[in-house]
Amino acid sequence: MSKLIKLAAVSDITNGKMKEYKVEDKRITIANINGSFHAFSALCTHAECSLAGGFLDGKAVTCYCHGAQFDLQTGKVLASPATKPLTIYKVKIEKEDIFVEI
Ligand code: FES
Repeated sequence: MSKLIKLAAVSDITNGKMKEYKVEDKRITIANINGSFHAFSALCTHAECSLAGGFLDGKAVTCYCHGAQFDLQTGKVLASPATKPLTIYKVKIEKEDIFVEI
């Protein structure tokens, strides 16, 4: 069963930035893309580099290790060497808080 967990405040993640959080047994990164928050599994599916250290480009994140790119709306791989998609988590904003459904 999924549940909503408060991970951050809206003001914690400025536009164009990402931050990684640990919640229970998961590592989740939240990206702020023009005021819209996207939550996804924090580790690149290629060799587990932390995507929070990578680069945002539109609605995609690029891994700094070997350049794999993922769509942050679907989790889909946009560029190799990764082949498996990211897990995307639903985000809910309530007042100033960011909740993620895990
Ligand atoms: S670990 Fe991300 S591209 Fe290799």
